[in-house]
Amino acid sequence: MDLSRYISKKESSKLVANQRLNIIFASSEVAPFSKSGGLGDVASALPRALAQRGHNVVIVTPLYGHLDSEQMRLSRRLQPLEVPRKSKQQSKVEATLWETRLNHGVRIVFVEAEEYFGRQGLYGYDDQAFEDNADRFAFFSRAVVEFTRSFALPVDVLHCNDWHTGLAPIYAKHYFDEEFQDTSIVMTIHNLAYQGKFDASEFDATGLPQKYADTSELFDEDGNVNYLKGGLQYADHLTTVSPGYADEIQTEAGGFGLHEILQNRSDDLVGILNGADYTVWAPDVDRHISVRYDIDSLNGKRRNKAELQHRMGLPIRPTLPLLGVISRLTEQKGIDVLVPTIRTLLSDLEDERDGFQLVILGEGPPQFRDALQELAESFPTRVVFQPGYDEAMAHRIQAGSDVLVVPSRFEPCGLTQIYAMRYGTVPVVHSTGGLADTVSDLREDPEKGTGFVCQELTEDALAGAIERASAAYRNYRKWRPLMVRAMERDFSWHESARSYESLFTSLHQQEQAAE
Ligand code: ADP
Ligand code: GLC
Repeated sequence: MDLSRYISKKESSKLVANQRLNIIFASSEVAPFSKSGGLGDVASALPRALAQRGHNVVIVTPLYGHLDSEQMRLSRRLQPLEVPRKSKQQSKVEATLWETRLNHGVRIVFVEAEEYFGRQGLYGYDDQAFEDNADRFAFFSRAVVEFTRSFALPVDVLHCNDWHTGLAPIYAKHYFDEEFQDTSIVMTIHNLAYQGKFDASEFDATGLPQKYADTSELFDEDGNVNYLKGGLQYADHLTTVSPGYADEIQTEAGGFGLHEILQNRSDDLVGILNGADYTVWAPDVDRHISVRYDIDSLNGKRRNKAELQHRMGLPIRPTLPLLGVISRLTEQKGIDVLVPTIRTLLSDLEDERDGFQLVILGEGPPQFRDALQELAESFPTRVVFQPGYDEAMAHRIQAGSDVLVVPSRFEPCGLTQIYAMRYGTVPVVHSTGGLADTVSDLREDPEKGTGFVCQELTEDALAGAIERASAAYRNYRKWRPLMVRAMERDFSWHESARSYESLFTSLHQQEQAAE
């Protein structure tokens, strides 16, 4: 991996905010170093956007086995980080810290601990979650807290993300309440479906005293230890990644068992929409596509389409709409509804000029892979499925498709539909969470609509939305303005970073006022 363009010696940006905050951003993935989904993208773009406003931001993340500290030219800190695994002091693990400065002055610190992270895979390998994940991410959470304590400057905000850092607020409050008096701990929920639930017998991995084993704070009703549940109660403030999802997770249907906790904390919970990093995800600068384009050179998009069709082994048909799907293959993503919907739509075709083509890029377990593979085999000139994770291909699909289909059952924010719009790739989405917050339906609003929204996730509703998109594509006088409108929508991080900044600043002021 060539990382040179991410690394820079440029110092922090000039201060645009009223006050410079010291922020530690803890995440189990950070693109392009490690990524399994949108968390990685957010963890690289949000810190940068905050740094651009003048804040001092340090990202803390694991040094996974696929990352080579030498090749990345990281600097090794002479002083290792001592990470106790129990109480304040006991059974310490010494972690090596490696760091570098990224663009716009963000510093990134990689925590190296061979026994936890020195292997291939972030959370698992070959469809199997690692058996010691309770241990690995308890360690990471504790490392984040120890790093924050030992930071050279007073830390104003410790920003934790998802269950992998769920125990950090508990460690901070339990062991170091005094030291963290002036540090606001914010926990962002990127996806409530993942909570870091482990069998009760794994409680020891937390290293926490027995009193936590006897309360419901860290345990679910079914007796499992739940890292995120703990974090949600101990963090000072909670955020999630879209306003719509902030509402959904407070309902029984969307709360994955934690809705009551979230309702109780509703005054401390806010939804801030993710942004897009347009230095990475925009057709005029994209390094992965062969022809760059923008609103004034849409011909470039046609060439990307032809190239994608060719590369995927599909007939090169400019007049057929090309649909794309870029997705983790999980329950969440609605693949089980997509497959029969596409099968029905393509089975009914009478003329080869009707219908559409579809390319799917997806990583996930055999149940989904097999279903997609079978679909592709049933319609060899229409459907191609590429299994696995392929960053460059994700970009090529964004640039080469006409329509991006995101049939998620629920979607906290969703980034692919946001990226798609910038590429003039019109989204078809299910009206849920961040998808509903970012895509407006053409039929509902013919002047401003940017895509096609199905109100419920059924085969009929999804088929209807896909058919509407396919029909609209065939009328270029209608399609072109739709593409242009989508491309003009601005989802840059600027606004979202300001929302985080106001939250952080107000928390900081409250801390100061409390003294
Ligand atoms: P989630 O975080 O739930 O996976 P998002 O839409 O927020 O959903 O983010 C998905 C991110 O992961 C996007 O950057 C998308 O391009 C990328 N992605 C998803 N699946 C793949 C894949 N199979 N190969 C490459 N990139 C992928
Ligand atoms: C999660 C969500 C996704 C969101 C991403 C980044 O993985 O599933 O909707 O965009 O996190 O916040």
